[in-house]
Amino acid sequence: MAVIVIDHPLIQHKLTYIRDKNTGSKDFREMVKEVAMLMAYEVTRDLPLQDVEIETPVAKTKAKMISGKKLGIIPILRAGIGMVDGILQLIPAAKVGHVGLYRDPETLKPVEYYSKLPADVHERELIVVDPMLATGGSAVAAIDVLKAKGATNIKLVNLIASPEGIAEVEKYHPDINIYVAAVDEKLNEHGYIVPGLGDAGDRLFGTK
Ligand code: PRP
Ligand code: URA
Repeated sequence: MAVIVIDHPLIQHKLTYIRDKNTGSKDFREMVKEVAMLMAYEVTRDLPLQDVEIETPVAKTKAKMISGKKLGIIPILRAGIGMVDGILQLIPAAKVGHVGLYRDPETLKPVEYYSKLPADVHERELIVVDPMLATGGSAVAAIDVLKAKGATNIKLVNLIASPEGIAEVEKYHPDINIYVAAVDEKLNEHGYIVPGLGDAGDRLFGTK
């Protein structure tokens, strides 16, 4: 397992606005989308390329294209939805599968309520997205769902992770690489990431 911290200045700058409690839902949504798109650039760095023959207006040539890789984006509902469009902008052919989980506020354990995945999910390289990796319970449960369907090639992408969440994913899914924009200090007694950004779903969708 590897934790890849994507600390590009544009990502760090936008993440500061996302963290700020004075940032409203419209800007929050927009910047989560932008940061997800910027992160996708790094997350897809290892996609294989193949040579194809093309003709420019000047000459025939060989050029590179991504070699038929089948990708899937898997948002963990709700908050993961905020990261999908940014990634789809870069990889429009990716299929999107949804895993619905919410965290029980008392036990902090994930409760699964929905899943709808591409039929060929086991053949795809999957990018699981969720802004927050807190206790890690939701990410572990979502990856369990995907592995139960036969998926073997999975990356996890979070905006902010806690050290506890990273350790939890490593414990149950040591084969998974995690891409994050920041690793924060700790969890508080309510299981929120400190300093974090608050409740990602509520801030994206204006609920509370
Ligand atoms: C949030 C977040 C993650 C989860 C992280 O979702 O989007 O899915 O908490 O916490 P964990 O690592 O401790 O499991 P939440 O349960 O608030 O649901 P929502 O996205 O529907 O608001
Ligand atoms: N879920 C969130 O949305 N934020 C946290 O800090 C922890 C879990």
